[in-house]
Amino acid sequence: MSARRICLLPGDGIGPEVIGAARRALEALPVQFEWSEGEIGFGAYQRCGSPLPEATLEKVRAAEATLFGAVTTPPDLPGYFSPILRLRKTFDLYANLRPIRSIPNPVSRQGIDMVIVRENTEGLYSGVERVEEDGARAVTERVITRRGSQRIARAAFELARKRGASKVAVVHKANVLRQTCGLFRRTALELAAEYPDLEVQELLVDTCAMELIRAPEQFQVIVTTNLFGDILSDEASMLVGGLGLAASGNLGEGAAVFEPVHGSAPKLVGTGQANPLATLLSAAMMLEHLGEGGQAARLRAAVEQVIAAGQVTPDLGGTLRTEQVVDEVLLVLEEMA
Ligand code: IPM
Ligand code: MG
Repeated sequence: MSARRICLLPGDGIGPEVIGAARRALEALPVQFEWSEGEIGFGAYQRCGSPLPEATLEKVRAAEATLFGAVTTPPDLPGYFSPILRLRKTFDLYANLRPIRSIPNPVSRQGIDMVIVRENTEGLYSGVERVEEDGARAVTERVITRRGSQRIARAAFELARKRGASKVAVVHKANVLRQTCGLFRRTALELAAEYPDLEVQELLVDTCAMELIRAPEQFQVIVTTNLFGDILSDEASMLVGGLGLAASGNLGEGAAVFEPVHGSAPKLVGTGQANPLATLLSAAMMLEHLGEGGQAARLRAAVEQVIAAGQVTPDLGGTLRTEQVVDEVLLVLEEMA
């Protein structure tokens, strides 16, 4: 089979460390890769005048999939924009999949295996904002469309089937946001008629936030709007080891960008404390997306094994450095071969 064309976007802070880690792990698998690398983030802005240069967009366009590290967003820099949000918009990466799964480590609660399916292009992230009354009043529009709601609900229902899940929770706040969440809710529940094999339930977002703490094992697939998904996914990640393990995939029709949910953690740069596993798990999601399900499962199993053995960074109670964790993953992969 020909080499898989992957674009790496290391970015700022610990981004280069975790992307380097993922590349090492991917290169240990029996899959051929053809790498390209693009500039993104604050460093890119300083070097090329844009946090997301056109050359980077070209590389993402040319790749089968992209693995993104992290970026630092400086506050209040005129002309600056969040390059990850722009990437999601530019490539219409409407589905943000965020798996939340128990790990064999005391920091994690057990029995949890769900995916949060977050709408990724509209809602409060539509970018329609204005300031009125000489700055005394500010407005952000929350745009929800039928098309946007339909495609994210379909993505969630299809994913539920693929995972053999029996139910999907549609999460909204339609009791207050009557128009926007109303449309989202109606559209998702209407579409549910096409999936009689799935039990589709609805929850208000505040109830969902509470239930995630009370009894998280009840959830299999959650589908929700952009900001709710942003918040619930950070919350849920804390049930199973935190952001050091939280992986995600941004999927559209023509492109796919995988990224650890964590940020650029400038304080950790060079300390060896950055946990590479969220990026390795994102790389596993990428393999799955490329049709390399077997290798994805191997990589995931290797990650689980080093976690179980306590060969982890301090955030998970270990003493290893970033590179040493990758060394352990490579050893396990070798043993599996
Ligand atoms: C995430 C992040 C981003 C978001 C930020 C960095 C803009 O929190 O991927 O969850 O809000 O989507
Ligand atoms: Mg977030």
